[in-house]
Amino acid sequence: MAHRRSNRQRNRWAASLLNVGPTDRVLEIGFGPGIAIAELARQAGRVYGIDHSKLMMRQAARRNAAAVRADRVRLMHTSVDDLPSFDHPLDAILAVNSVGFWPDPVGRLRQLRRALRPGGRIALASQPRCPGVTTTGAAEQLHYLLTQAGFTHIQVETMDLTPAVVCVLATNPTDGQP
Ligand SMILES: C[S@@+](CC[C@H](N)C(=O)[O-])C[C@H]1O[C@@H](n2cnc3c(N)ncnc32)[C@H](O)[C@@H]1O
Repeated sequence: MAHRRSNRQRNRWAASLLNVGPTDRVLEIGFGPGIAIAELARQAGRVYGIDHSKLMMRQAARRNAAAVRADRVRLMHTSVDDLPSFDHPLDAILAVNSVGFWPDPVGRLRQLRRALRPGGRIALASQPRCPGVTTTGAAEQLHYLLTQAGFTHIQVETMDLTPAVVCVLATNPTDGQP
């Protein structure tokens, strides 16, 4: 997965859209070979990652070995359906080409929103490769899921790759919506 150039470009681009800073605590769900984790670790104070594949866990741990040793990256082998709790609210969350695999995406996104600080940001990226799935369709679906889960300030960004990549960003509202 990490060998395809567009996969690396997609992950680096999606991670950069969150504009994380040196004190930020960031979570990536479905990190795969850990390319976005490496990008986030260059910018953030602490990066958490969750993936339910043992193979992906091994690849991402190898790719991010120095940051894991320095405890700037913590990788967890678990499912988004079994989210761990975090000591402090998160500042940002990322998922690239992963939400489509989740059995109950709205339920999980609601739970993830509660793990974010008020005003915290989420970015869901998708590079649809299945026949009949368009970038516009993928963006509409992610927009719908995020709105259903209570996120606001939806913003859509597109990266001109083949196929194109869409990233839908949203904010956890500051009014304490449950
Ligand atoms: C298509 S891969 C994308 C990997 C990486 N984000 C990328 O873009 O290169 C989907 C990833 O999501 C993970 N995944 C799928 N369903 C998951 C779940 N329910 N909980 C945690 N990880 C999941 C898979 O193991 C896989 O690593």
